Amino acid sequence: MINVTKPYLPNREKYKSYIDSIYQANWLTNNGPLVQELEKRLEDYLGVKNILLVSNGTLALQIAYKLLDLKGEVITTPFSFVATTSSLMWENLVPVFVDIDPDTFNLDPSQIEEYITRETSAILPVHVFGNSCEVEKIASIASRNGLKVIYDAAHAFGVKYKDKSVLDYGDISTVSFHATKLFHTIEGGALIIKDDALFAKAKRLINFGYEKGEIVELGINSKMNEFSAAMGLAVLDDMEEILRKRKEIWEKYHEALEGKVGFQKMNGNSTNNYHYFPIVLKDESEVLRLQQALNKQQIYPRRYFHPSLDTLEYLQPQAPMDISRDLSERILCLPIYPDLGINEVEMIISVVQAIQVEGH
Ligand SMILES: Cc1ncc(COP(=O)(O)O)c(C=O)c1O
Repeated sequence: MINVTKPYLPNREKYKSYIDSIYQANWLTNNGPLVQELEKRLEDYLGVKNILLVSNGTLALQIAYKLLDLKGEVITTPFSFVATTSSLMWENLVPVFVDIDPDTFNLDPSQIEEYITRETSAILPVHVFGNSCEVEKIASIASRNGLKVIYDAAHAFGVKYKDKSVLDYGDISTVSFHATKLFHTIEGGALIIKDDALFAKAKRLINFGYEKGEIVELGINSKMNEFSAAMGLAVLDDMEEILRKRKEIWEKYHEALEGKVGFQKMNGNSTNNYHYFPIVLKDESEVLRLQQALNKQQIYPRRYFHPSLDTLEYLQPQAPMDISRDLSERILCLPIYPDLGINEVEMIISVVQAIQVEGH
């Protein structure tokens, strides 16, 4: 069976050596030595400062909203995983959708200002499938209008924009280290926080509001545990190999399917982390036919992202986001993960090509 992705498991002996150190220290959570080590190593690897590890990417977003004291409306994209929107609702913020660029799949910056009202406190774009947003345009819109910017960078691990980490843009970026992600800690996530005082506050918020044994403000529990950090350290050691294999698969798909299906247009100032391989088909019936043909061979691509978030029942009534709705009906993400063999990639390509021939 081939799924859209498969969690990466590092060498068992290496993972075990980290686990042995947890047994030795008998320190399982609460900012343990492995969490501290992983934070340092990620800062070096990614080239950013102020990384705070947390228990998942959704809580990373929620902590970010609290840190920046967001109120009222937040401008965001309808083309994302549900957590981008649901985390806002959970914090009593109102998601205001702005449609996407049909080529890049990211929030269209040219439409943002139409949607800013006196209630708007922030912009929450997503680097969809690791494709960098128009970060400079978004920064100038935010500063002209006195808004905060939080990037949901759940897919953008390791991506560089103009030679600098894309996680460095905005007031805060958040990432997800869920098991299905490029880099993972089983469950986990992180905040990358520009301002040092906010970084100090974030450390309190994720630990019930404690500082030096005193409860100094309202907080919650979103700490990462040592077993997760151990997985992160072991996976981080293999990043070069993980990226090399993903790149090989990505390029194979790209070369074979170019001109036959639609692709995401990648930001020319940005590197690619080969996290996903989305293809865009003629219409939804073609997506369903391809999905069925692949399923027959025990291959399970995913309809990321479907449905468009502006159609969620709990958000109605809602102005339709036409481009996002259209894309979410026509997109399919093909399997991509380091363990996927080139012969399996070739088989997937041949099923995609057969559907194309059949449809014409
Ligand atoms: C765009 C996006 N935002 C947020 C999340 C939530 O992250 P997590 O699953 O770690 O809570 C995910 C993935 O799961 C995601 O893809």
